Amino acid sequence: MTDNVLDEAGEARLYRALRRFWHPVCWADELGDTPLAARLLDEPLVLVRLEGGVRAFRDLCVHRGTALSLGWVEDGCLVCPYHGWTYDEAGVCRRIPASHGTNIPAKARIQPFAAAEHAGLIWVCLGEPAMPLPEFPEWGDAAYRTIRIPQYDWHCSAARRVENFVDFSHFAWVHEGILGDRSRPEIPDHDVYRTEHTLWFRLGIEEPANDLKGDTGATDTIQREPSHYTITMPFTVRLDQPLEDDRHFVLFVASCPLSARETRNFTWNARNYELDPERDQGFVDFQQLILEQDRVVVESQRPEELPIDLSEELHIKGVDRVSIDYRRWLGEIAGDA
Ligand code: FES
Ligand SMILES: [Fe+2]
Repeated sequence: MTDNVLDEAGEARLYRALRRFWHPVCWADELGDTPLAARLLDEPLVLVRLEGGVRAFRDLCVHRGTALSLGWVEDGCLVCPYHGWTYDEAGVCRRIPASHGTNIPAKARIQPFAAAEHAGLIWVCLGEPAMPLPEFPEWGDAAYRTIRIPQYDWHCSAARRVENFVDFSHFAWVHEGILGDRSRPEIPDHDVYRTEHTLWFRLGIEEPANDLKGDTGATDTIQREPSHYTITMPFTVRLDQPLEDDRHFVLFVASCPLSARETRNFTWNARNYELDPERDQGFVDFQQLILEQDRVVVESQRPEELPIDLSEELHIKGVDRVSIDYRRWLGEIAGDA
């Protein structure tokens, strides 16, 4: 086994390449009539709704570097709070109040980024988007009750976080009694498929009975139908877990790389059963219990980045198949940078 030597050049290339993908930066309903500050890949952003559309700009006024997220919206433009320079929806300065009548310099513009509202989130891409936005078919479907799991930040790379979500051999150890059983730690073989934008696989595990999933408690463990996992590259995962009687339990987890080693996570939990809102808190509590167990382990991982050189950690064929394919793809993305 080799030491975990980080290939820093590769990590830097991957980090740069991430600018060409959509990432979630806030909940859509957080962004109202006033500008909102966000961060993505170390880039400070101001998000704003102008002329009905969502816009994202670098959070920096070209006049004196003030954060535009402290400003406001007026007549469909973003106004800087310091001297009132006023930028239109393309980021072009249209008004310099102190110098009425003089020409506005052509350089008086702020850096716009691609922004979109999708699946109840605001997404930003800092470059030319290399892939479409991730699919979340349950969003807006009246058959489902979709609730928000409070967002959480972890001190880890987004890739480590995603890998944790699609790693099964930890269930028996980290989530013993909730998602797994240490006396039955084996993971069934599963194939991993790659499409243009996703990695997907199906896996049916045995889980401890859970009343949130409609289990009656007649048996201690339930052999589930295969769950369908879809990773939309690079950091969004949709889990569709079919339960008895056509019930579906769905998690949509979209992770935002705030920086190389900080990840903000947005989660929707959709279900087509137990639609009474009074049941929501139980689902939230269940996720938060699991997440806290995961957080401690994932934040301890070193290096914080996910080594994409597969020789740097020890992988077990079959069990670690998803990780191997996922890391390979990240390696390709870094290679394209
Ligand atoms: S710093 Fe923005 S208008 Fe002066
Ligand atoms: Fe976990």
